[in-house]
Amino acid sequence: MKTDLSLGNRPDLATERLSLRPPNDRDVDAIVGVVGNWEVARRLARVPHPYGPADARFFLDHVIPAEWVWAVTLLGSDTLLGVIGLTPEEGADAAELGYWLSPAHWGSGITTEAARAVVAFGFERLGLPVITSGYFEDNPPSGRVLRKLGFVETGHVMRPCLAVGDEVPSIRMELAHPDARIITGEGC
Ligand SMILES: CC(C)(COP(=O)(O)OP(=O)(O)OC[C@H]1O[C@@H](n2cnc3c(N)ncnc32)[C@H](O)[C@@H]1OP(=O)(O)O)[C@@H](O)C(=O)NCCC(=O)NCCS
Repeated sequence: MKTDLSLGNRPDLATERLSLRPPNDRDVDAIVGVVGNWEVARRLARVPHPYGPADARFFLDHVIPAEWVWAVTLLGSDTLLGVIGLTPEEGADAAELGYWLSPAHWGSGITTEAARAVVAFGFERLGLPVITSGYFEDNPPSGRVLRKLGFVETGHVMRPCLAVGDEVPSIRMELAHPDARIITGEGC
């Protein structure tokens, strides 16, 4: 299947406990409430600190239209608990998985569950051959999320962190499309 990078194909996604929907204007306060938290911001590459409503508006108006991004909510509730998405990689037939979640909900498997649905969307609906991701070395929970999904380490790099205002040691990860993994397995 040819990769559809038109960004038009962005349906709601449902999992056992979650509903993933497009973020909207009513999410500004929830986004600021989570991303404005230093413990979240310092683990993300592209988030300024401090972070206010104008930053959330920039995210809604300029970032979201150019990426596949969903608000993470519990089934039956519209409250944004986090955000997850795929960012198209420039010049490559790939996209980068990224996510953040309200600290009040850390550790209950929500991001892993949401990420499984988004990864499946990337492979099955978009036909991406590979999904990349990465995390700062001092953020092992994010590494656990990626490893539980089958991502493998591809290298160590320094990566800018806007909130910290410097480059931070990071681990690059990637997950190949299941078909590619089968072909690789047969070759071994
Ligand atoms: C990273 C983040 C999204 C994880 O969300 P989450 O919903 O809590 O993740 P899950 O519950 O699905 O899985 C977390 C895993 O990390 C593990 N974990 C938690 N604290 C840990 C620690 N200090 N060291 C190692 N593993 C840890 C959990 O045990 C779990 O793994 P397990 O299922 O094998 O036990 C969340 O912590 C977050 O929003 N952090 C701030 C933003 C961020 O880091 N985004 C990612 C940037 S790369």
